[in-house]
Amino acid sequence: MINGLFAKKTVSQLQKEVDGSSNQLGRHLSATNLVLLGIGAVIGAGIFVLTGTAAAMHAGPAVSISFVVAGFACLLAGLCYAEFSSMIPVAGSAYTYGYATMGELVAWIIGWDLVLEYLFGAATVSVGWSGYVVSFLNDFGLHLPASICQSPIAVNSSGWYLTGAVINFPAVFIIAVITTLLTLGIKKSALLNNIVVIIKVIVILLFIGFGLSYINIENWQPFIPENTGEAGVFGWTGILAGAAVVFFAFIGFDAVSTTSQEAINPKRDMPVGILGSLAVCTFLYVAVSLVLTGIVHYTELNVPAPIALAIDAAGKSVSWLAPIIKIGAIAGLSSVVLVLLLGQSRVFYAMSKDGLLWKNFSKVHPTFKTPHITTIVIGTMAGIMAGLFPIGILGHMVSIGTLLAFVIVCVGIIILRAKEPGASRGFRTPWSPFVPALGALVCLALMISLPWDTWLRLIIWMAVGLVIYFTYSRKHSKLRLSANRKKGVAS
Ligand code: ALA
Repeated sequence: MINGLFAKKTVSQLQKEVDGSSNQLGRHLSATNLVLLGIGAVIGAGIFVLTGTAAAMHAGPAVSISFVVAGFACLLAGLCYAEFSSMIPVAGSAYTYGYATMGELVAWIIGWDLVLEYLFGAATVSVGWSGYVVSFLNDFGLHLPASICQSPIAVNSSGWYLTGAVINFPAVFIIAVITTLLTLGIKKSALLNNIVVIIKVIVILLFIGFGLSYINIENWQPFIPENTGEAGVFGWTGILAGAAVVFFAFIGFDAVSTTSQEAINPKRDMPVGILGSLAVCTFLYVAVSLVLTGIVHYTELNVPAPIALAIDAAGKSVSWLAPIIKIGAIAGLSSVVLVLLLGQSRVFYAMSKDGLLWKNFSKVHPTFKTPHITTIVIGTMAGIMAGLFPIGILGHMVSIGTLLAFVIVCVGIIILRAKEPGASRGFRTPWSPFVPALGALVCLALMISLPWDTWLRLIIWMAVGLVIYFTYSRKHSKLRLSANRKKGVAS
């Protein structure tokens, strides 16, 4: 079996790998750090940019129900992530869980798929960051030329085309700054992340608090606008289509699990980090979407900065809040980029340790104690994507990739319960296999609601991954090499 594509690591093997002195990354993240890391990854372009689109195009005021549906899908997957990460506190997240349950090929597929979530995710959010920064600078009379702050490549119904812009420079800039921070050390990154998370949560609470008194309940009539006859455009199908759009807003809570190897007490703190950040974000999202659609009629919300629009609509007495919201969004989006790039470097670190990727990806810097080479390579790749592509294309790829990883993690729990029923777990997914099976189905349903061309790009991405696996990773896999050595000794 070990020579096949389904060679597996045992849970105890994985637990040993990070015990004691072999854990080079060091354990210094507390439960509070982890919850803040989760919120840092989650609240970003989704709530600051996409809520308005989802309300205007799909769900109307019922976008708040879309948030509940997307949050429910994430809760089911989050429960599975919590069990895995409390049991296998190793850098690598879903990739490592795949290795333990479904074998090397599936692990590779997940690892390669996670690039879509983390690396593409960081690129997507940095494009959103660029939009807010340009708009903020405009407010102060500083107008950056469009040629250096827009994507040079775009796509419409007739295909790909060049926009005439040269590069989205602000997007590349934020990726470069964050890559530098991550190279210098996770302790410093965690401290900065905590400050930024506090700022963005305060900004959102200010919006909810001040916005409440400007709600005009007539804007909520009808709460679920009637379906236009087309699936996904208002009515209940619109709520589901809205859920697929705002799903992006929840992406990132699972990034907490990529830092398992750096958590002080992973058994207790991983579930707290994952489920805690998910609960806080769902509450804030539902509240923001209710206030937003209460202040501005949903038909007017298809704009790049819907929250700033709502503040303007509320009137002069709260206009002081508009620049604060923009600063909060800029800070908030920065922390999302930080956690996503951090997550990507930890996944590549784990894959390289296993021999599936270039061995320099798991080198840890002697002073900074960070996987500096992988961090710099990832930052460069994310910078290129961010500099060239628009938010829409990147965002859909992120959603489909993340949903696929969620489906595999949910299925993994069912397999793990059957294969390793007695292994020690800090947290157990309740009502297994019902909860993991439902999680896989709900995520699959959201995947199906994404456009066909996104599916095609996913298939191409996965085909490229398989070529790398069969030409490089399979030959360098440490698990397979050591099994072959043992077989050689025995024979
Ligand atoms: N959830 C993250 C965001 O909304 C990716 O930006």
